[in-house]
Amino acid sequence: MAKLYVNPKHQLGHINPELQGHFSEHLGRCIYEGLYVGQDSDIPNTNGMRNDVVEALKEMQIPVLRWPGGCFADEYHWKDGIGPKESRKKMINTHWGGVVEDNSFGTHEFMELCRQLGCKTYINGNVGSGTVQEMSEWVEYMTFEGVSPMADLRTRNGHPESWRVDYFGVGNENWGCGGNMTPEYYGNLYRRYQTYVRNYKKGEEIYKICCGPNADDYHWTEGVLKTTHDHAQSAHGFMNGLSLHYYTVPDSWENKGGALVFDEEKYYKTLNKTLYMEQLIKGHGAIMDQYDPEKKIGLIVDEWGTWYEVEPGTNPGFLYQQNTMRDALVAGINLNIFNKHCDRVKMANIAQLVNVLQAVILTEGEKMIKTPTYHVFHMYKYHQDAELLESYVETQQIGSEGCRVPNLHESASLGKDGRIHVTLNNLSVTDSYEIEAVFTETDIQGVEGTILTGDMHAHNTFEEPDAVHTEKFDQVAVSGQNLKFTIPPCSVLHLAVEI
Ligand code: AHR
Repeated sequence: MAKLYVNPKHQLGHINPELQGHFSEHLGRCIYEGLYVGQDSDIPNTNGMRNDVVEALKEMQIPVLRWPGGCFADEYHWKDGIGPKESRKKMINTHWGGVVEDNSFGTHEFMELCRQLGCKTYINGNVGSGTVQEMSEWVEYMTFEGVSPMADLRTRNGHPESWRVDYFGVGNENWGCGGNMTPEYYGNLYRRYQTYVRNYKKGEEIYKICCGPNADDYHWTEGVLKTTHDHAQSAHGFMNGLSLHYYTVPDSWENKGGALVFDEEKYYKTLNKTLYMEQLIKGHGAIMDQYDPEKKIGLIVDEWGTWYEVEPGTNPGFLYQQNTMRDALVAGINLNIFNKHCDRVKMANIAQLVNVLQAVILTEGEKMIKTPTYHVFHMYKYHQDAELLESYVETQQIGSEGCRVPNLHESASLGKDGRIHVTLNNLSVTDSYEIEAVFTETDIQGVEGTILTGDMHAHNTFEEPDAVHTEKFDQVAVSGQNLKFTIPPCSVLHLAVEI
């Protein structure tokens, strides 16, 4: 019997809802088809946004959405995407699939989407191929209310009121697709560009995000912070966040492996690689601690998730992949890790929202399915805005040789609803485990459980949209301060504990 300890008397930090954030790029069928179909579409929509997708995302409690990229952001010129649709510029999306981008989804449409979703806005600006003036004017266009050229232009385009920009990224992957820069060169550009990301409204300050490292590129983190830290520490609002990108690729970038075709060894290898996220947070966090010991700068994991070979027969530039119980475990593990590091991690955005990489939703024409990853976010939503609790689970190492993983993985929080929320993952493909959960000095009044479980290959299709779905988990014995239950193999479990 494995013991799971939760100490409700020991709160460790606040879990920002944004740890369960999302990312949408002008890539493949994420924006067009996935989210936006236009007002004239036969697919039911409100101001062009798919009703079915918006409804599902609201139900999942999407807290924040990042846009327009990704690599696309450093080639995006925002003025191409405003004004009458018929006169918007058409261009080729050179990064992703070489298809025509007609700019029919631009700033106004993104803000309308976030309004419908009821979520915060995260805009990513262009440093790679854009000017300081362009970035500065975009911020003015979105957030300034008063007499100004950009506020006038917005009014002429039908929106006299300004919008709120909660987060603003100053460039994306500027070590790669965003300009191939050195950390020192980018650090200096960051200092300059962010100066003109003006805060026009008191109480609505923009959270400015500096481009951080790729995976274990500690040299980038060090170089950028060294170049910027005097300001970061002295001037409030100079740098609020530093990004981190890390994708879970089962094999190598040259041979990523399939989303549906994998064996047990690949399954464990995938989970082993995803667990590396914790080491990355600790490693980059240690460098940040040297420059920012008070942890004022948030680590923003604004791209994470699985990246496989594309679904056979689809455009290689569209990054469309299926999603199985393996992805559900990847999601569960990462969300647990973010919770446990909520002192430093202030936002995380899985890539990407619809039809791209580890999507929560897939669409085909008017059809829509929720992936296993969707269900995990839905189960974890109770951690949003909750207080992290001290917790620990006894584990044993399982998996294939060279790819060992712990059999169990957990996090726990005290929710806004006054209940304790425990999310526990069983990583084993074959074994179930008996668990005794002990809640320090806390009498348990009742418990509600929800589980997502299935074969490691299990996934939803347009023919069988509910093959993987959550179920009530009621085989939990309550006695005093303890719970006893058995967690089945390959599963993600949520327990809501009444105290
Ligand atoms: O999410 C797909 C791409 O991955 C993004 O555009 C880029 O930032 C990253 O390399």
